[in-house]
Parts: sequence; structure tokens; C-alpha cells
Amino acid sequence: MGIKKYQDRIIYQVYPKSFKDANGDGIGDLRGVISKLDYLKDLGINTLWLNPIFVSPQVDNGYDVSNYYALDEKMGTLRDFDELVKNAHKLGIDVILDFVVNHTSDQHPWFKDALANPDSLYRDYYIWQKGRHDALPNNWGSFFGGSVWEKDPQDEDSYYFHLFDKRMPDLNWRNPEVRRSMIDIAKFWIDHGVDGFRLDAFIHIAKADFAQNMPSHGKKGPQVAEMFFANLPLVQTYLHEFIHNLREYKADLFILGEAASADIDLAVDYTDPKKELCDTVVTFRYFENDQSKLNPALPAFGQPLPLRIDIFKDTMVSWQKRLQGISYPTLYLNNHDLPRILTKVAKNSAHKKAAAKMLATLMYLQRGLACVYYGEEIGMEAAVLDKIEDFEDQQATAFYHEALKAGLAKEEALKMLSESHKMASRTPMQWNHAEYYGFSATKPWKYGKENGVNVADEQADPSSILNYYRQVLHLKQKPLFIEGNFVLEDTSDDLYVYTRMLNDSIAYIICNLCDKTVKYQVKGSLSDKHIVLQNGNLSLDEDNVLTLAPFSSLVFMTE
Ligand code: GLC
Ligand code: CA
Repeated sequence: MGIKKYQDRIIYQVYPKSFKDANGDGIGDLRGVISKLDYLKDLGINTLWLNPIFVSPQVDNGYDVSNYYALDEKMGTLRDFDELVKNAHKLGIDVILDFVVNHTSDQHPWFKDALANPDSLYRDYYIWQKGRHDALPNNWGSFFGGSVWEKDPQDEDSYYFHLFDKRMPDLNWRNPEVRRSMIDIAKFWIDHGVDGFRLDAFIHIAKADFAQNMPSHGKKGPQVAEMFFANLPLVQTYLHEFIHNLREYKADLFILGEAASADIDLAVDYTDPKKELCDTVVTFRYFENDQSKLNPALPAFGQPLPLRIDIFKDTMVSWQKRLQGISYPTLYLNNHDLPRILTKVAKNSAHKKAAAKMLATLMYLQRGLACVYYGEEIGMEAAVLDKIEDFEDQQATAFYHEALKAGLAKEEALKMLSESHKMASRTPMQWNHAEYYGFSATKPWKYGKENGVNVADEQADPSSILNYYRQVLHLKQKPLFIEGNFVLEDTSDDLYVYTRMLNDSIAYIICNLCDKTVKYQVKGSLSDKHIVLQNGNLSLDEDNVLTLAPFSSLVFMTE
């Protein structure tokens, strides 16, 4: 069993804490996932990606791992895991695990030993620097706010490096023992039947010389210094060693790399099969916000902004074209690090259904691997979290206090944050009408005001978003939508129109991106083409001019 070619994969991302709670403690778990495998099969996916499930103090919801060889007890047991893999494989679904390679938890025995004992073998598993004249080693800033340096509690003059939370110290990949340990961990999980890994934040495993400050251009405080800790050439050296070793162990291991800030040139490097690195990478560059819409009276972090459609188009085209003949990009609309896109794109509730369908049509019929984030297939949106603590984020808290000072009501500030913050896209899957949406018998670990859509309703309605997703994912399995050439038509930013072509068959995909009716002149005759997917009201006049209702979309093909 299993998928033969990586480009045939249709991935579904499950945030395990929020998918289905089987034992009623308010936190999703593996038995919950097992109980929903038939649902996933029915949707038409063939690969399941689970966000981290290892032992963790949960400072960053599992991305802070304190034991890579055991499951967080809230998730279940290793036996549950084995059952999950076995049942998934029976249904033709492969399982890939999120693997955190850049850092561990500060509660990991390696780090605890490194702190407790200056002569520890594990000291060199992490990154240490002396301070400079009573100050931090440099001005580099962490992604989670503040400096990347934290004082060694045992040694006033030493600091350890953390790119994310200070309770998540970075591993030192220069140390061959670290590299060997990570390979051993991966092999352990391959032995438990996993088919691949999503490599978390791998682009950061090499760092530049710490002597250099990040030019601050007069800005005070620590500065995020991507040029010194992202995508350095040594990343590829370490990654190659890691992946080469694992592919010798399991030849068809699937590697999906998280390369958040990678541009297309780096994507070419990271996915060129000759280099034996990742099969595919996820960039965050598809979705840029329109910074011109920022309110200068409030901090930038925390403000919901519309998408830059022009940048989106340019980025998509370059990822579609440059990877042709090399690899396949990952196609996604949402993930656990982004606010849910539907909330951003369609403001008017009357348009939500059409917009959700249009977005799936636009994204997943392009060239690449579809990766659906749990709940988007039923139209879930950013939930409104009603307490600032629910965001678990110092930058969110800072925004909140500034916003209140600037005169915003609490509810307004929380709504803005919910529409722009990753945490609001991690709320429980909405299964049915029961209390807590059938996710759990008790109040879920994260809970907000949701938009009320649910799987049961969607299953019952033939015209639902869910049933439309099934159709899109079914089409996606056709060679035309896997291997076909991609051409984006030059249109106004209200429209997204492209063709896929393979041998004699062509598909035309026409999407209205806006909340207005838009006209589009269809090229050539339509008599030899048939509609395979229709979403929303459309009409065609005698001159082949299509009138597309807000957020409608259409796919037609010649065969
Ligand atoms: C990745 C994850 C994110 C996490 C970070 C640190 O970017 O997707 O959720 O916070 O890595 O592990
Ligand atoms: Ca549970």
C-alpha cells in the first residue's frame, strides 16, 4: 500500500489537539483521529499530516519537544499510534509526522543536563555565547519577540540561543552528535510505519557568525535577523546528510519541508531531486498582506489586513513555472500558523459559501500537492477568542494593551487579533450541532465564538462546501491536474484565470476573486468543452462573455 509518486499526494493537515477528543478531557487525541479516518477517506485525501504529538510541556503546542521517543500522554499511547498507522494504511492513507529539528524544549533531558553540568556531553548540543561587555552577544531578535539570547541561569556570563520561545533552545547542528541523534529519532518513527515527515523550521538549522549585529536603522531593541539565521548554505549540507541517511533506510520517504521565508530560487534548491533534499516545500510567501491598509495608531502585529492579490499572482506564477521539470510546490490556503483565509477574503456572510468553493478551485487545481487544513473543507473561519490569554503570545498581549490605550473596546481588539492571529485558526473541528460541536464532551482546551458550520450539516447538503471539496479533490487525481502545464492568464486582479494542459486535454479554470459581479471574455468556442465544476451563478452571452457572480468559479474541459 502507499502512494507511489509524491506528486500524487493529497494531504490533510490535522492539528491533533483540535480534531476529535475521544476520552472527554477537552483535548483532541489519536483515538479521536482513528475514529475519523473514514471521514478523511471519503473526502478523497491520501496523506495525513499530524502536527507534533511527542512529549511536550506545550509551551508552543507541541513544537517544544521534551522526548522524541514517546507520545504526549494527552495524545495517547504508542499502541494507539501503531493502530492509527495500521488503520490509515488499510484505507490507503499514508501518515506523516511533524518533526521539530531546529530546537527542543528546555525540559528535554539534553538541555537539562547541559544546564546542570558545564562539562556535560550535551552542552555542545546547544548554542552558547559569552556576553559582550555586560550586554547580549548581539542584537538578533527572536520570532516570538525579544532577543534570541537568554542567560544561562548557572553562569551569569553565558547565554543560550533560542529562535522561538526562550523555553525552546536551538540545537547545534554543527555538532555531528546532534545530527546523528536526529537521524536515530527519525528512524525510530519510520520503524513505527510513518511514511514521511514535515520538517519544521528546517531552514534555520545553520546560523551565521554571532559577531555581526543586524543593521537596525535606528530601531531600538532586538531585530529579527533572517539573513543570519535563515536559509544559509550550510542548511543544505546538513539537510542532505539527514535525508540521504533516511532514504537509505526507506527509499520512498516523503519529505515536506517548512521553508516559511523561502523564495522561488531557494525552493528550486531545496526540492531539486539531484540534491536529495525535500520533495516539496511550503513557503509563506503566497500570502502577503496589504501593508498600506495598516492603521498607524496601532501596532502592526495584530491588525487584520487584506491580501495583496498582485503579489499572490506573481508568486504563484513563479512557483508554478520555475518548478516545472524539477518538483511540485505545496498548494495550501490555511495552516496552523496563519489566520483562516476565508475570514480574510469574504467579509459578507452571504458570500462565504461561494468564496470557500472558489478558493479551493483556484488553489488546488493548480500544479502541485494539495494540502487541506482541517475544517476548511466545511468553511470554518477564524473563531473569535474572548480572552487575551487565549492567544498565548506576548506580541498579541502587547497589541491588546496598545489597542485599549488607543481607545478600542476590548471586544474590538480581540476581534482584530482573532482575524489576524494563528491561534484563532486552531480551534476545535466542528462535527455537529451538539454542545462543543461534537468535538468533545467537555469544554475544549481552546474555545471561541465559531461561525456555526459543521460536518453533519455539510454532509446532508448536496450543494455544501464539503461536497464541493470532494469533487475538487476527485478531479485533482486526474493526470491533467497533476502533470499538466500551467498558464495564468493576464487579467485584472478581480479575476484568477488559468489553464492546465496535457496532451490533447485542456482545463480552463475561471475564478472571481471579488465581491462584485465580473465579466470575462472566454477565448475560443465553448461548443467542444463541458463544464466539470460550477460554483455560483454564471451566465454566458452570445459573444462568449461570461458574467460571474461574486466569488463564483467555473471549470470546463475538453477531453
Ligand atoms: C514552525 C511551526 C510553528 C512553530 C515554530 C516553532 O514555524 O509551524 O507553529 O511555532 O515552527 O517550532
Ligand atoms: Ca482527549
